[in-house]
Amino acid sequence: MAIDVILGLQWGDEGKGKIVDYLASDYDIVARFQGGPNAGHTLKFDGKKFVLHTIPSGIFRTEQKNLIGNGVVIDPITLSKELDKLRGAGVSFKDRLLVSKKAHLILPTHRLLDAASENAKGKAKIGSTLKGIGPTYMDKTGRNGLRAGDIARTNFMERYLALKEKHLSLLEIYPPVDFDLEAEEARWMECLNELRALQMVEGEYYINEALKSGKKILAEGAQGSMLDIDYGTYPFVTSSNTISAGVCTGLGVAPSQIGEVIGITKAYCTRVGSGPFPTELHDETGERLRAEGGEFGATTGRPRRCGWIDLPQLRYTIMVNGVTQLVMTKIDVLNVFEEISAAVAYKIDGMETQALPYDICDQELEPIFESKKGWKVTLDGIKDFDALPEAAKDYIAYIEQQLNVRISMVSTGPEREKLIVR
Ligand code: GDP
Ligand code: IMO
Ligand code: MG
Repeated sequence: MAIDVILGLQWGDEGKGKIVDYLASDYDIVARFQGGPNAGHTLKFDGKKFVLHTIPSGIFRTEQKNLIGNGVVIDPITLSKELDKLRGAGVSFKDRLLVSKKAHLILPTHRLLDAASENAKGKAKIGSTLKGIGPTYMDKTGRNGLRAGDIARTNFMERYLALKEKHLSLLEIYPPVDFDLEAEEARWMECLNELRALQMVEGEYYINEALKSGKKILAEGAQGSMLDIDYGTYPFVTSSNTISAGVCTGLGVAPSQIGEVIGITKAYCTRVGSGPFPTELHDETGERLRAEGGEFGATTGRPRRCGWIDLPQLRYTIMVNGVTQLVMTKIDVLNVFEEISAAVAYKIDGMETQALPYDICDQELEPIFESKKGWKVTLDGIKDFDALPEAAKDYIAYIEQQLNVRISMVSTGPEREKLIVR
């Protein structure tokens, strides 16, 4: 048995949560492998809406186990809020939500450091979600971090206090920011009890034994490939490997165990936070995409930057991920447009190129667009690919041909059932 992967091919918010929730019924285990509460994965079904930050999107199915893998960073406060929402909705998670002991903990002072560091950057700020992601991964790689399994150890408080002291001395280099550390710390300590009550596992043994016994596993990515710490638009990225390689380190599985790599792209493109975005539109069309697509962050509520789909960018992330099939989401958002464009190349210093340049953050990239005719009708109720308007089928075929990968699913609305499976 192999482990299939779902990940975002753009700058996040491609609709990963929706697709994972839909596909979860075909799997035994859904596992998050990286990121933390910077993620906001929206699920809609039975007239209800949920936004998950730490918990895998298979939690609303009844049989599936959900693992928070070791590559994830956990803030007990956010996790506790998510668990409350599940309780409120009558979702039982006790035997179905597992946490890898090796997942790292986000401390209140990690959030404080994130805020102070961003504040000090001024105009150069990353546009972080301020969830403490960067500082927590820095402590992980700096070999100072605290892990979920550590909360059961007798020296936990001692280690917590030592790390907090270190953070407080680091904070001295930054101008002060508003943050009620005492109150946040008290809440954090209280919320640790929620984490203590969950089933902690050796994630790598759990996953490999499950694979051996024939269980089907779906790995759920967070963020998008263009936010990958190595291959994204550095330094305007997150602090983890969001690409398929992150599944191996984030869950403890060998590359040979990876099966399908399902890459998700919107029918257009968005980005939230700072950094390069070649196809960004600063005009009415961009506004229209934002309004039609409801493009406001699921975690921070910030308006998302919007633009047309970027084919060189997608070719790049298809390459680094080894994508075997594509899912196109939010195609319904394009219903209102007369014309739909796609960037097919970039012009840099008068030269045409397909490659994303190393210094993308400092380069003026001028996208070269091709346009297709819009369909200008609703896609509501369409469940069969052949029933799509011709212009929508043409657009999908064009993207497939340009990217040389099959689009196996097309999402036509936020709700679980608004999906065309080919
Ligand atoms: P994720 O982070 O990749 O899980 O995506 P988000 O949940 O942050 O953002 C995707 C947004 O688009 C959410 O509000 C979803 O409910 C919504 N959505 C997902 N698929 C579709 C779709 O096909 N059409 C429309 N109109 N909205 C969608
Ligand atoms: P999901 O899983 C969109 C962006 C932030 C910022 C940069 C770094 O919902 O797709 P961080 O908090 O990680 O230090 O922020 O990355 N970012 C996301 N953008 N979707 C996300 O997650 C994101 N997680 C982080 O806006 O630009
Ligand atoms: Mg999101």
